[in-house]
Amino acid sequence: MATWSAPGKLFLFGEHAVVYGKSGIAMAIRPRIFVTVRKGGRMSEMKSPYLKECFRRMNVKGSIYVRSQLSSSSGLGSSAAITVATLSAINDEFGLSKSREEIAQIAFEIEKKVQKGLASPTDTYVSTFGGLILITQDMKRRLNPRNLPLVVGNTGVSHNTARMVEGVGEMMKQYPQIAGPIMDAIHEVVMSALHSLNDHRKLGYLMDLNHALLDALGVGHPALTRLVMAARAAGAFGAKMTGAGGGGCMVAICPPRLKNRVTGAITACDAQAFVTGIDTEGARKEKNG
Ligand code: PMV
Repeated sequence: MATWSAPGKLFLFGEHAVVYGKSGIAMAIRPRIFVTVRKGGRMSEMKSPYLKECFRRMNVKGSIYVRSQLSSSSGLGSSAAITVATLSAINDEFGLSKSREEIAQIAFEIEKKVQKGLASPTDTYVSTFGGLILITQDMKRRLNPRNLPLVVGNTGVSHNTARMVEGVGEMMKQYPQIAGPIMDAIHEVVMSALHSLNDHRKLGYLMDLNHALLDALGVGHPALTRLVMAARAAGAFGAKMTGAGGGGCMVAICPPRLKNRVTGAITACDAQAFVTGIDTEGARKEKNG
């Protein structure tokens, strides 16, 4: 029996623009998804296409038990985390000796297949390696990890990443002179953030700008804006939607002493909220209980 876990992720800056070759910054976060795999026994009935595909790709049969602390379809990378944790547990239980790089690559291929071609390697990479990652086209650079004081709010409105990416694609086709400069501006926000990672106030300002630019791309949602406004009013340095938008989650960066106040302001809007921080471990072997 082998138990592995993998963390969720947040896009701090640059979602959607990364689809057009611009840069983005993503971070692995607490909480995680835990997966136990056991060889032999009866093959588990698997409803999740991600799990089915993990066993098919690794060419093994076994039983599986999943425990998730991450809500699905909210932009926190739960499908990547479950795929990475499952592949890592299979790899360990069946002694397949795949490297982390190989696990990240197979996890990406599985996400791409299940999501019908619409997946970037960001989520699976961040979940496998943990930490803070700069994404530029096909390159990923690991940045020095920093623990940013973050609060995540979940609107509870489930979003569809593929639909949001398609919507932005439509805008890029119909209004290239408008959408193109918005993408360029997001790229500049990312570049400024990259040079201000130790200045939380500046990061907050840049998050506010990034949120406005994502709204201009048409991926906003009234529930997201409500939570973003509530977080700012409660004293956050700044806040933005995170991930594909159209629902899902937002993130706020706040003075550490105000984290609870910001969490309270978000939950007062009938949303879920939690304080989070960086996960630097990525996929991790757990003690079998
Ligand atoms: O919904 P999420 O968290 O998987 O975010 C998608 C981020 C996009 O930039 C919109 C798409 C992508 O694959 O990078």
